[in-house]
Amino acid sequence: MAAKTVAVAQQKGGAGKTTLAAHLGVALSGMGHKVALFDVDPQKSLTAWFEMRQRLVGKTAGLTFASFEGWKASSEIFRAKGEADIILIDSPPHAETAARLAIREADLVIVPVQLSPMDMWAMRTTLQMAEREKSRVLLVLNRVPPRGKMADELRVSLTKENVPLADAALGNRMAFAASLLDGKGVTESQPSSVAADEIRALAAEVLAAL
Ligand SMILES: Nc1ncnc2c1ncn2[C@@H]1O[C@H](COP(=O)(O)OP(=O)(O)OP(=O)(O)O)[C@@H](O)[C@H]1O
Ligand SMILES: [Mg+2]
Repeated sequence: MAAKTVAVAQQKGGAGKTTLAAHLGVALSGMGHKVALFDVDPQKSLTAWFEMRQRLVGKTAGLTFASFEGWKASSEIFRAKGEADIILIDSPPHAETAARLAIREADLVIVPVQLSPMDMWAMRTTLQMAEREKSRVLLVLNRVPPRGKMADELRVSLTKENVPLADAALGNRMAFAASLLDGKGVTESQPSSVAADEIRALAAEVLAAL
């Protein structure tokens, strides 16, 4: 397929952008797609994970990585389109230039949202930014607790507002953090886990949305 660009963005810090980018990148490459991961966040968390991955796992087929300062990213993303199927960008929190740029470049913006008022409020800014840049969005509920009605209630209200919300959601699972510490994605470290099922389901939805 022609290269598609996916940005993971959410104004709220700690919503799960980097977690999602790493696990999705590994899952999509495991499905046979050529994935180019980009880190445009000055915190460089995805970079730290990828460096760990190179040390502990080594090179794996279909997954490349690059980290860029905002101003250089556009040209590098354009260049990567010639080599990858999917460009997956991890972006910084807050309305930083780099986040805006990632959203502008994206065919699809994935917005992780935890069940907290702060995530809901911050999400609005990210949605507005995507609308201004004419980029499509896909909300993903993250760290959903095993019990409680809040996720269902939120689904109903977002559907009423016509905000695209992924059917796939990620539970609050240690496996997501633990596998990143090993430089892996959950689909590699625990392929039979619920966490891996959740990421594969999300990867399939992302592909369908592209
Ligand atoms: N589904 C999940 N289950 C358990 N822990 C999670 C999950 N998603 C994220 N976390 C944890 O939440 C914390 C924040 O996640 P992460 O760093 O991915 O967020 P972020 O949006 O990239 O943050 P920042 O805005 O600082 O870049 C991390 O400790 C991560 O391990
Ligand atoms: Mg991050």
